[in-house]
Formats: sequence, C-alpha cells, structure tokens
Amino acid sequence: MRTLNVDLGERAYPIHIGDNLLQQDLLRPCIRGRQVCIVTNETVAPLYLERLERALQGLEVEKVVLPDGEQFKTLETVNRIFDGLLEARQNRTTTLIALGGGVIGDMTGFAAACYQRGVDFIQVPTTLLSQVDSSVGGKTGVNHPLGKNMIGAFYQPRCVLADTGVLKTLPPRELSAGIAEVIKYGLIYDAAFFDWLEDNIGRLVVGDEEALSRAIYRSCEIKAEVVAQDEKESGIRALLNLGHTFGHAIEAHQGYGRWLHGEAVAAGTLLAADLSRRLGWLSEEQLTRIEAIHAAARLPLLPPADMSVEQFRSLMTVDKKVLDGRIRLVLLQGIGSAVVTSDFPAELLDETLESRLAMARTG
Ligand code: NAD
Ligand code: GLY
Repeated sequence: MRTLNVDLGERAYPIHIGDNLLQQDLLRPCIRGRQVCIVTNETVAPLYLERLERALQGLEVEKVVLPDGEQFKTLETVNRIFDGLLEARQNRTTTLIALGGGVIGDMTGFAAACYQRGVDFIQVPTTLLSQVDSSVGGKTGVNHPLGKNMIGAFYQPRCVLADTGVLKTLPPRELSAGIAEVIKYGLIYDAAFFDWLEDNIGRLVVGDEEALSRAIYRSCEIKAEVVAQDEKESGIRALLNLGHTFGHAIEAHQGYGRWLHGEAVAAGTLLAADLSRRLGWLSEEQLTRIEAIHAAARLPLLPPADMSVEQFRSLMTVDKKVLDGRIRLVLLQGIGSAVVTSDFPAELLDETLESRLAMARTG
C-alpha cells in the first residue's frame, strides 16, 4: 500500500492506494463516532458491501443502497440518504462512507455536507475514474436537468481508500472512461507521464494491475498537488476541467447516463485540442498523438453526430467557468501545459465544433 497526503491544513487527509485494502482495518482511524452509514448502489453492494461491513465490525453500521446510474445523481436520490440517516437516528457524530463510483461519491459527499449541517465522510472509490479523480478534492453534488453538477458543495473527505483490486470487476467500457481522466493529467500537467501513458496504454486498457496502480498513484499525486494549491478553484484547479465544458454539454444533451462521463470528457478533450491546434498552440503532430492515445483507450474521438453547434453553444454557457457571459475553456499549449482562457475568436470555436460534428456525421 502507498499513501499520499492531500495537504489542506486542518482538513488534510490521506489517500491510501493498494490491492486488497477493503478488508483491512484502515478506516477506523478516520471514524470519530460509533455510528457509520455506508452509501452504495445496487451494482456495487452485492460485490463489496459485505467485505467493507466486516472491516467495520463493532460499529453501529447503517446501509443505504441506491439505484445505479448517472440519471439518479439528483437531489431526490440524495433525499433517500437523508431518509436512511434519520430513520436510523444517526446523529452528528456519524460518518458517511461512499462505496462506489463517482456518482455515489459525489452524492454521499453532498449528503455529508448537508446532514445536520455537516458530518464526516470517507471515500471508498470503486471505479478507475473515481480512484483517479472524483474521490479526491472535495467536489460534491448532483446534476440538474439544465446543467451537470450544478448543485453542490466543496466538502473534503476525512480519508480516501482506493482498493485497486476492485477494478477487476469493472466493465471494460468503464475502465476506458477512467483512462480518459488519467490522460487528462498528462495533458495538462506532466508531459513525461503522458509519454509513459502512450507506452503503456495497451496494458491499461486490458486492466494490467501494475500499470493501473502506477497510473492511479501518479494521477492522485497530481490531483492532490493541484487541490492543495487551489481548493475552491479560483485558479489552477480549473485546468482539471480539460474537455469538461464540452463534455458536460454532451452529457446534458444526450440525457445523463447515455454517454459515460469519461467518454464525454474524451470527445471534449479532442475538441479542446483541435481548437488549440487552430490557434497555433498545438502542432498537427501533437493533435495526432492525442487522438491516437484516446483511440487506443477505446474512447470516442468525436462528439455525438446528433448535436449541433448551437446546442453546444447554448449548453456551454451554463458552465461554472463562464465569466461575464463569456465561455472560458481549458486549452492546451503543448503536451503537459494548459491554460484557462476566453481569449479565442468565437468563430474559431464554431469552426472547430462544425468540423468535428461533420466528421461525426460522415462516420
Ligand atoms: P459511476 O459512479 O456511474 O460508476 C460507473 C459504473 O460502474 C456504475 O454502473 C457502477 O455501479 C459500476 N461500478 C462501480 N464500481 C464497480 C466495480 N468495482 N465493479 C463493477 N462495477 C462497478 O461512474 P464513475 O465513472 O465512477 O463516475 C462518474 C461521475 O463522477 C460523474 O457523475 C461525474 O460528474 C463525477 N465526477 C466527479 C468529480 C469530482 O471531482 N467530484 C470528478 C470527475 C467525475
Ligand atoms: N474533476 C475536476 C476537479 O476536481 O476539480
């Protein structure tokens, strides 16, 4: 097992990464009271709930099992967590434990931020995407029909336990979706990591344990560094949203759950990279490398063919990075370096969208 620290002063917390961690007694030091509530879903519960419960023996353990899917990442579903907590008379000293992917983690963290004005919570991420991204950094929340992740709070967990062994049961499509966020770290922050990913993408995509562990560790290391500098996203943290402004528009347009979050981010990253090339910030050869690594990861390179430029524009203006009515995007200035900017001609954004949508329509 390896442990990283998210350095946030009095709210600092460890990220434990390794195989077979679920059944070990690693959570107890992060639990302050006698009560805990495990929040999970109908897919993850039969796989891992019992294992986690066994590790919590001696505590008063409540369980809330939610329906599975991005379409259930709503305030209504969070209310079911509150129902469970109140029915079990869980008090302010309880600790919520999110056992699942990013959907469960985001909702459980949000419930913890609100329940009795804030109780402790722990992330036990079980997808690649949640192990490399959503469980770290304290972004919690739910979707709204008009916009992705529009309701939420910054609320840090007390600990993250990433058991890499649970990835063995993850469907290949979900593994690929997680790889999209791993590639993101290389693109925005670490050219050498991107090179390593290019060399190892074949191993990652088939779930090679050693390659996945390295990728998870480096991704968490980068995320922890960025979050420690800018917890509430007033600066550098926005770079973690590479591809996300486009991606969130895709998810909202398609109906939450049709395109996986990581798939939408991949198509969005390619749009951002294409626009960066049109601005002269990225070479043709670099764009080709970015396309190739996404293709090798079995991720979509193009946006959905049934979307229009107007739909993209309209949905992108709901983005949290919009400032004074102007869309701000994370764009690349080479591999390993990114900026957040609204300083690009609107026509060039339209051209980029039009061109990639046309490619999608012609197959
Ligand atoms: P997810 O939570 O929907 O999980 C994907 C699927 O895998 C689900 O069907 C789930 O039940 C299943 N699953 C989970 N663990 C499994 C396992 N070990 N074996 C078999 N099946 C398993 O999706 P995700 O990709 O983990 O997360 C996506 C969500 O995360 C989105 O809502 C996105 O907005 C959010 N997100 C949040 C942040 C953040 O900083 N908070 C960052 C990135 C993404
Ligand atoms: N996933 C983006 C962030 O945590 O800031």
